[in-house]
Amino acid sequence: MSKILILGATSAIAEQFARLYACSENEVLLVARNADSLEEISQDLNVRGYSKTSSISYDFSDVEKATNLIKQCYETLGNIDIVLIAFGTLPDQNEVSLDSNAMHKEILLNYNSIVILLNELANLFEKQKNGTIAVISSVAGDRGRQSNYVYGSAKGGISIFMQGLRNRLAGYNIQILTVKPGFVITPMTDSFEKGLLWVGPDKIARDIKKAINKKKDVLYTPWFWWWIMLIIRFIPEKIFKKMKL
Ligand SMILES: NC(=O)c1ccc[n+]([C@@H]2O[C@H](COP(=O)([O-])OP(=O)(O)OC[C@H]3O[C@@H](n4cnc5c(N)ncnc54)[C@H](OP(=O)(O)O)[C@@H]3O)[C@@H](O)[C@H]2O)c1
Repeated sequence: MSKILILGATSAIAEQFARLYACSENEVLLVARNADSLEEISQDLNVRGYSKTSSISYDFSDVEKATNLIKQCYETLGNIDIVLIAFGTLPDQNEVSLDSNAMHKEILLNYNSIVILLNELANLFEKQKNGTIAVISSVAGDRGRQSNYVYGSAKGGISIFMQGLRNRLAGYNIQILTVKPGFVITPMTDSFEKGLLWVGPDKIARDIKKAINKKKDVLYTPWFWWWIMLIIRFIPEKIFKKMKL
């Protein structure tokens, strides 16, 4: 039996992920800000076979309420086997470059709110001495590019924070999984032109489940992004800074 907590449960990737665990032995708690979508997803997951689904409506930009949220999640589930943090926003780089307040909001949501949740969860998991904490970061966090470095810097920060947490909790039988997807067809990328490298959210969800089963630390999904980012990371800065990426 697994107790699963999904923070950002209305994300297309999270929804696919939740479906993969639907069976009469598992229980899921969904947290997201849109109460109507939450209700719809809860009902769908119930039909798919969870023993119990519950939900909490919460806006993750309410950073100061994060401690209470995690307390409420523990009260609902008892203990937690798997947490997936999946919420996020992808700002328009040009817009945030011209508006520092907008940039601040993006950083607050995509970095601050996530690390505060992670801190609360880590302290509880440390007492639990088991379980998986998975966060969806991005390949965009591997190197800063002019087209999305505000988003990329938040994701890069998350990846480093996860690395530190993994190091801290290594002796506690706790998996800290950093998920780095490439291009995924979801509402977040609706306005983007799609090409060969694009995949659906179901592929990412399946890869996350496999990585949890294999107790991986870092997942590039699909797999070829590991190679792409290896090349990107190794391009010398003198050349990289002149590239229009
Ligand atoms: N799509 C990609 O190509 C891609 C690539 C790499 C990484 N990622 C990451 O994957 C994760 C999931 O994104 P996705 O692709 O599945 O896109 P998505 O379907 O658009 O999901 C984004 C989710 O974030 C939620 N959210 C945004 N601001 C929120 C807030 N203040 N409070 C509560 N929820 C909030 C949205 O809720 P609402 O529905 O209420 O707006 C939505 O459920 C994100 O962290 C994203 O950065 C995506």
